[in-house]
Amino acid sequence: MELEFSSQAEERFQAILKRYPNTRAALLPTLFVAQDDFGYLSVGAMEYVAGRLELPPSKVLNVGTFYTMYNKRPVGKYHVQVCASISCALMGAHRLVHQLEQKLGIRLGETTEDGQFTLSEVECLASCGTAPMLQINDDYHENLKTPESIDAVFKPLLGDSKKPNQGR
Ligand code: FES
Repeated sequence: MELEFSSQAEERFQAILKRYPNTRAALLPTLFVAQDDFGYLSVGAMEYVAGRLELPPSKVLNVGTFYTMYNKRPVGKYHVQVCASISCALMGAHRLVHQLEQKLGIRLGETTEDGQFTLSEVECLASCGTAPMLQINDDYHENLKTPESIDAVFKPLLGDSKKPNQGR
């Protein structure tokens, strides 16, 4: 089936086109719209964006595959991204990943069977002063220095695991 933006995504896309001076500048926000609308950035989704922005598909694929903030495969309802760069690594990112692997019953890069959680490691999220930290969907959770602080972040989300996956 041919990909096409939903009406809400099309609205966001048109607003982006008005805001940016050219389609090249509109590429990053348009990829976010595509990711939100299609669930993740497949090659087909990136080719669709290239067509809509009249950019070479190779340019869009280069950008889309370079940044970790774009998901190239489906992710769970909650995409847990642990920063593993230097400040977070020094402050306990490894311990944090280990605790999450235990808690969620998956390894890095995996998604829970119920489709609720995907666990990923990412590069610096520009919150080094509050290391260690992680991002869940669009929200930052910082200063996760103790197992208890991680438990507090996940308690409400784990309580949500009986609800069906409604996307982002
Ligand atoms: S090193 Fe983790 S936010 Fe910068």
